Amino acid sequence: MEKRNTIIDIKNMKMRQKIVALTAYDYPTANLVDEAGIDLVLVGDSLGMVVLGYETTLPVTMDDIAYHTKAVFRGCEKALIVADMPFLSYHSDINDAIKNAGRLIKEAGAQAVKIEGGRERIKTIGAIIEAGIPVMGHLGLTPQSVHQFGGYKVQGKDKKIAEKIVNDAKLLQESGCFAIVLECIPELLAKMITEVIKIPTIGIGAGPHCDGQILVIHDLLGLNKGRIPKFVKKYFEGYPLMLNAIKEFKKEVQGGLFPLKDHSFNSEKENLPRVY
Ligand code: KIV
Repeated sequence: MEKRNTIIDIKNMKMRQKIVALTAYDYPTANLVDEAGIDLVLVGDSLGMVVLGYETTLPVTMDDIAYHTKAVFRGCEKALIVADMPFLSYHSDINDAIKNAGRLIKEAGAQAVKIEGGRERIKTIGAIIEAGIPVMGHLGLTPQSVHQFGGYKVQGKDKKIAEKIVNDAKLLQESGCFAIVLECIPELLAKMITEVIKIPTIGIGAGPHCDGQILVIHDLLGLNKGRIPKFVKKYFEGYPLMLNAIKEFKKEVQGGLFPLKDHSFNSEKENLPRVY
């Protein structure tokens, strides 16, 4: 068995090698991303949208993330596993936040958790790290704040918000985060942050200058029916290919072409019970 990546391995990749990260939510996908040599696997709360069919990530619960992290842990030997802290699992009480983060480590098998937000979450993030739980930050378009942003919009195009994002990145570094996801911010802002902080930045819709890149696996594999964001590159047309396979199965069952002899089991005729 290969040694699993640690947060130290991920930190040491800055300036040396691009970090390649993907989301995964179940055992077979975890097998695929691990075999492909992906460095970091995020059990993201995007789970709510791409697997559970919600319109936003907001309804995702601690139970959902714990359940899916367990499956990913079973399917993944080498990649560092980071579990997302869902909406309201770290917002109200610091002790609850530590317990919730601890559950994802202790019960589900994650090595780290991800938390959205900057200055407003610093106390909580610091307390979780002090409890011995590594934290990955998340700045820019933080989807749990979708209603506050008035939709899924690029963040940091104006100076005030850009300054806040830079300051938040510095604060997250000071609080002990091992990496920061930068989502949907202008590429030059992401470049600037990547250059001023010592911990790795992992971009999604944040241009090519980050220390690493992450995508939602359903977007990369083309498994979604609807529109995909501008920053996504589809490497596979999963949805139409899977749809065709399912339609083919239906046609063959209806037409008596499946199953054939090759898919069936035999026994000696005299071993069959007399039923007539
Ligand atoms: O939930 C998620 O998948 C994420 C990534 C988009 C970074 O937060």
